[in-house]
Amino acid sequence: MTKPAFQDARADAARRVEAHLANILAGQSGPIAEAMLYAVNGGKCLRGFFVIETARLHGIAGAWPTSAAAAIECLHAYSLVHDDLPCMDDDALRRGQPTVHVKWDETTAVLAGDALQALAFELVVEGGDNPAAQLELSTSLARASGIAGMVGGQALDIAAETATAPLTLDEITALQAGKTGALITWSCLAGPRMAQADLAPLKTYGDALGLAFQIADDILDVEGDAATVGKATGKDANAGKATFVSLLGLDGAKRRASDLVTQAQDALSCYADDADTLREAAQFVIARTH
Ligand code: IPE
Ligand code: IPE
Ligand code: MG
Ligand code: MG
Ligand code: MG
Repeated sequence: MTKPAFQDARADAARRVEAHLANILAGQSGPIAEAMLYAVNGGKCLRGFFVIETARLHGIAGAWPTSAAAAIECLHAYSLVHDDLPCMDDDALRRGQPTVHVKWDETTAVLAGDALQALAFELVVEGGDNPAAQLELSTSLARASGIAGMVGGQALDIAAETATAPLTLDEITALQAGKTGALITWSCLAGPRMAQADLAPLKTYGDALGLAFQIADDILDVEGDAATVGKATGKDANAGKATFVSLLGLDGAKRRASDLVTQAQDALSCYADDADTLREAAQFVIARTH
């Protein structure tokens, strides 16, 4: 399998994931199914790309990586639908479109998110032929999504809004590693987990990139405009969010993100030039405008 250029590979992952989910939900009708498809479509599909690309790096192609990529995009979409709710970040715009609770209502947003989460666990093992690897992929997704991962980080993020003292660098790092890093690291480890190969290099890559990704998101909140970013900007400081920008300032946050990208790229040396697509992806994470 030859290594593709990053943007081609990302676009291909997005097409595969969207087609797979359209197919799976084709038999369902009603607002929840409609909202589920609406919520999963139109994103960058970066997490789905990491699943498919790290699988390719380990000689695995076909149905399982596509299905696992769809799984993480469902999980991610659920996290966004709930993140946008009035009781969380209260956002009306996502991916340039009205958020799910604005287009439908809060009940539909809660239930579509719930159903996307359940669907993720159905899809993550589908198409696999190795029960031990399938079990590991599924339990690790549960860990990355729950109290020790995304949900735990989201809880810290909301609590920080009303904290009496500003969070320390270590506390912000832990918060971001949970809310954003856990799902990104999981995506980067999907390939070696499917192949039951060494996790260490891609764990270093994923952890560094997950943090860089959220720093870039926090910088876009300050420097981006809503039309390009596809979501409201200029909100984090007003909401009292604890971010690297709030602690280190814009320049400090940019330096930190750039160091993390170098760290991520350096972790790929054992894959030689077969990991060039992942090196490009790392650069994209901080160069992106949306
Ligand atoms: C946005 O993630 C939420 C964060 C974790 C910062 P993405 O920027 O990957 O969102 P989409 O999927 O491309 O819309
Ligand atoms: C969201 O972080 C992280 C998750 C959804 C888990 P943000 O709240 O910063 O993401 P955006 O800016 O709304 O996309
Ligand atoms: Mg949030
Ligand atoms: Mg938000
Ligand atoms: Mg943000």
